[in-house]
Amino acid sequence: ESTLGAAAAQSGRYFGTAIASGRLGDSTYTTIANREFNSVTAENEMKIDATEPQRGQFNFTAADRVYNWAVQNGKQVRGHTLAWHSQQPGWMQSLSGSALRQAMIGHINGVMAHYKGKIAQWDVVNEAFADGSSGARRDSNLQRTGNDWIEVAFRTARAADPAAKLCYNDYNVENWTWAKTQAMYAMVRDFKQRGVPIDCVGFQSHFNNDSPYNSNFRTTLQNFAALGVDVAITELDIQGASGTTYANVVNDCLAVSRCLGITVWGVRDSDSWRPQHSPLLFNNDGSKKPAYTSVLNALNGG
Ligand code: G3I
Repeated sequence: ESTLGAAAAQSGRYFGTAIASGRLGDSTYTTIANREFNSVTAENEMKIDATEPQRGQFNFTAADRVYNWAVQNGKQVRGHTLAWHSQQPGWMQSLSGSALRQAMIGHINGVMAHYKGKIAQWDVVNEAFADGSSGARRDSNLQRTGNDWIEVAFRTARAADPAAKLCYNDYNVENWTWAKTQAMYAMVRDFKQRGVPIDCVGFQSHFNNDSPYNSNFRTTLQNFAALGVDVAITELDIQGASGTTYANVVNDCLAVSRCLGITVWGVRDSDSWRPQHSPLLFNNDGSKKPAYTSVLNALNGG
């Protein structure tokens, strides 16, 4: 196959990208995005600050712009993200305790109702674990509402849209030896044992010189899948865009039957949140980088 999406589809997987609504008027961008990818994640537009700028007043203008572009072009949509310490609107930042807990529940219900039955996977909770060696939860206003906030978010989400796969999503959890990975693993194992509704784990996979790709990523994916959840690579970018590293990541996903697919976090380097890392598959002029060919060849089986 000659595009990333079609090549991934040969094994029943998808190959997606993050889409920014502000770039949908750029035809170089939309031409590549439409041609190469068959799954879309809104880069910012489905986040809490965008969708509920005032409490109880939902705004899906920008989110729907991304959603409609994706669906009109035949792509599936990953929802990102419902409960997160970051990109909270001011009103939510100022809440705590049971008021914040209720606001989180109301937010999940409001956004999931709007997209009910339309989202393949939702990142229900994003980035809830601390970096470093503690293996602890990240301190945040949501965490301070009680350690059960994550399972409450998942139970709320399951009731709101039973058709969506419900994912926990995080970064620096690709290396099996890291404390953060082990902490996330213990949580997912506990959720599966206790019947908390979780379907998938998203590995953001922002690889850089400080947190480089390690070949034990495949072990990580296999171990999570063995708990009975699907896995996905949700925000892939690699500092310097080594073709070898990109191919390794693709082959890790292909080696794990429960790996649903791969999403890269933007189209061209100039679209990246870290443009100085040149981490993506397309140059600023829209031409294909060597890493593109490495990914395509890996998806095509070699
Ligand atoms: O919308 C405003 C615009 O009005 C203003 O003029 C402009 C001035 O700086 O800022 C715009 O908002 C920015 C927004 O992106 C849209 O471009 C924010 O400042 C900026 O902080 C925000 O960055 C996003 C970041 O999440 C915020 O946490 C990145 O685009 C987005 O790629 C990044 O994505 C995250 C994932 O959601 C979670 N995992 C990590 C990943 C990378 O940080």
